[in-house]
Parts: sequence; structure tokens; C-alpha cells
Amino acid sequence: MEEVSRGWDEFWAELFRIRHRRSMQGIHEYDRMIVEFCINVLNLTEGKSVLDIACGAGDHCIEFARHGIKVTGFDIANSLINYAKNRAKEEDLDIILFQGDMREISFDRKFDAAVLLSHSFGFFNHEENKNVLKHTFAALKPNGRLLLDLINPYNLPHFQKTWTRLEGGYLLSEPHVLDAQAGVLRGRPAVFIDIENNLLIHMNEDALSNNDIRMYTALEINQMLDEVGFSKIEFFGSNALPRMPYSHNSNRMVVVAVK
Ligand SMILES: C[S@@+](CC[C@H](N)C(=O)[O-])C[C@H]1O[C@@H](n2cnc3c(N)ncnc32)[C@H](O)[C@@H]1O
Repeated sequence: MEEVSRGWDEFWAELFRIRHRRSMQGIHEYDRMIVEFCINVLNLTEGKSVLDIACGAGDHCIEFARHGIKVTGFDIANSLINYAKNRAKEEDLDIILFQGDMREISFDRKFDAAVLLSHSFGFFNHEENKNVLKHTFAALKPNGRLLLDLINPYNLPHFQKTWTRLEGGYLLSEPHVLDAQAGVLRGRPAVFIDIENNLLIHMNEDALSNNDIRMYTALEINQMLDEVGFSKIEFFGSNALPRMPYSHNSNRMVVVAVK
């Protein structure tokens, strides 16, 4: 079996965000539940606009659009954006989708709300993470709302080594490990056995660079949002309705803030 290394956009984005995600039972119901929660806490009604930052394969963009929300979504991975565009076309949904880097967006007072879902915040160093919040603040209309759907840093899932049978082969995922001193959740290299092409596929440098996530506490997030200019910062312990208070053992740490 030949061994090769592949990049995030080149291979892994499609494998994780489309093939692997599609294999999860109940994922569509989960997506619908999250979007209903967002619509509720962000005060969104038909015709309002939302920016889905790091939208992945567009699963939530599609759900927002089905509710009559005007959606703009972007992601660093072109492969995911192309997939999302095709899905939107198939469903005849009018969604603006483009490839982009969250560190470089430059919208000015354009959206009623912005979301970063499935812990899509904290991929960079502290200054860059804060810059993402600054750009998002600029992108919101006055009184616009931001929602961050995060893993609760005090109640991390029990990550396990898993073998998953996917279309075309087997995915070996190593468990994430918390680097407590750095406050960073470090993802481990994954391997895919491509049985159709007889390949052992590893992550290259580029794919590995996507693997570390800074785990901010509520206090730290609160301070960053406050410094960027957000107010009325609220924390919830779940990304589903009814609204749940946030505590150390909540499933999620969902943050909502107002411009
Ligand atoms: C955990 S996934 C979440 C995807 C989607 N929001 C969801 O909930 O299914 C994180 C996403 O962030 C994207 N991403 C990573 N770095 C990015 C960047 N600098 N700018 C925009 N998107 C980025 C990845 O391609 C990936 O799709």
C-alpha cells in the first residue's frame, strides 16, 4: 500500500466535514435543532441576514435559508464551498457562499447576526483570535448579535481513538489531548485507509495546522468580547432550546453578545 500526505482543502476537509459528518446518526436533526436555537437567541425573523463564519459544507446555511433567513457563508476550504453551492442549487435556495479566511473578512455593518458553530473559534494565536472578533464586530449592523457555539472547557468530551468505516475506506482518528499549560486542545494526526485506491493517506503540514484549538474560559471570552466592543454578553449551557444556564458541567458553552 502506497503512503501519501494530503492537505486540508485537498482531501481532509471533504473527508471530515462531508463523508464523516454524513455517517453520524441524527446529524440533520442536530443541525435543525442548533439553527432553531440560533434563530431564537439571535432574534432572527424572515428576511434578516446572518453570516455563517467557517460554514463548512453549508449544513447550517441551508437550514437558515429554509427558515427564510438571508444567509452568507464562507469557509477556508474551497472543496466545502463548492459542495455547499451545489446543495443550495439543488434545493433552489438563494445563499451567498464564498471561499475566505476569517482573519481577513472586511464587511462593514452588513449583517443582523453572525455565527461560529461547532467550535469554529480559537484556531489561531490570541491576537489573531481577537482579530476575528474585531472583524465580526465590524461586519454586524448596530444591535447585531454574535453567537459562538463552543465546547465547554470545563467539561471536555471523552475523546477516544476510533476506527470509522466511511465511503471508500477506514478513518483512524486519534483522540484530542488537552495541553493544559497552553490552554490548547491539540488534535492528533488522522489516517485514512483508501481501500479503493490502495493508499494510506496521512495529514500533511497544512492539514495538521488546522488541528489546535485554543480553549477559552467564559471569563476570557467575556473580556475579549468586552474589549472588542460587544455588550450584553450572555452564556448558555446548551445549543438547543429551551435556553439552559451555563455551568461547569454544561454540554456546551454558547456565547451571545450584542454590538
Ligand atoms: C469544526 S468545522 C465547523 C464547520 C461548520 N461550521 C459546522 O458546524 O459544521 C471548522 C471549519 O472551519 C474552517 N476553517 C478553518 N480555518 C478557517 C479560516 N481561517 N477561515 C475560515 N474557515 C476556516 C474549516 O475548513 C472547517 O470547515
